[in-house]
Amino acid sequence: MNRAIVLGIESSCDETGVGVVELQGNGTLQLLADEVASSVELHARFGGVVPEVASRAHLEAMQPTVDRALRSAGLSLSEVDYIAVTCGPGLAGALMVGVSAAKAYAAALNRPFFGVNHLAGHVAADTLEHGPLPQPCVALLVSGGHTQLLLIEDLATKITEIGSTIDDAAGEAYDKVARVLGLPYPGGPPIDKLAQEGNPTAIAFPRGMTGPRDSRHDFSFSGLKTAVARWVEQRESAGAEIPVADVAASFQEAVADVLTMKAVRAAKEIGVDTLVVSGGVAANSRISGLARERCAEAGLTLRVPRPRLCTDNGAMIAAVGAHLVAAGVQPSSWEVSADPALDVATVSI
Ligand code: KG4
Ligand code: ZN
Repeated sequence: MNRAIVLGIESSCDETGVGVVELQGNGTLQLLADEVASSVELHARFGGVVPEVASRAHLEAMQPTVDRALRSAGLSLSEVDYIAVTCGPGLAGALMVGVSAAKAYAAALNRPFFGVNHLAGHVAADTLEHGPLPQPCVALLVSGGHTQLLLIEDLATKITEIGSTIDDAAGEAYDKVARVLGLPYPGGPPIDKLAQEGNPTAIAFPRGMTGPRDSRHDFSFSGLKTAVARWVEQRESAGAEIPVADVAASFQEAVADVLTMKAVRAAKEIGVDTLVVSGGVAANSRISGLARERCAEAGLTLRVPRPRLCTDNGAMIAAVGAHLVAAGVQPSSWEVSADPALDVATVSI
């Protein structure tokens, strides 16, 4: 296999990410650059991402972020062999900025490009840190927009959803609970921090979708979010003080408990020996900690990328591109465009 340099572009939400990955002769990947320009501060006062604001921010950040990534990789644009870009799922306008930029770079350089799936990117991120994935394996993907259990038979060509949330994503629940507690957006990091000072058994919040008749591999977090809001409201109307750290710790424990219990059970039932946990919420200290404990008890190998690779970035998209090149998958045609609802089974389009 020949070595190849892949430039990856990510713009599905509020981070403009550009990564550079080298596919080496032996098929392993080397991360050469990972630059992210975030517009999160522009959205913070709205308590969530404003699509139009995100699109404009991508437009402004795209070229400077590509330039920064190449500089940090010590490469010139002409040394790039392939361009990979997130085609979906995500915000339509935001995706369009990345796809247009990728096509423009590919056309100008006369190089092939791959339109790739953001969700496959979250899983591929792990291969940048821990090497090739043992396949098949199960992946738990937990982000602001998605909560899914995936069977990865081939990272470049065969990803199957085995379960997902029926309502809120785990990250969404973090962001909504943070708002109830008066914490800033995005809510994951402040809740994670505050929970370390709280008692995770102080309040018995519900574990959604864990009843005997509930779907084994699906999730639900909207009941938990509502339970936290009701608990806080009742305390407030009684004039009592809110033990914010205990609420954060008890909420986090409920999320971590359900996510890790279901992911470990799915891996055991399917009969794989490796579980990957990825996506922004995988940066959570309790979720990765509890996953580690439960995987050790179940005899599973756990792989969690470092927090920087868990949250949205361009390196993970370059990694998918490199896996596609290694697998000999055909590049995308010029007709390919953004698909906000792209299904996880479509790794590249
Ligand atoms: O994967 P990501 O960066 O973007 C999406 O594709 O959605 O995930 C963002 C989500 C947000 O909801 C954020 O609150 C959550 O990841 N998050 C965390 C932590 N860091 C980020 N959730 C819990 N604990 C964290 N440490
Ligand atoms: Zn993401």
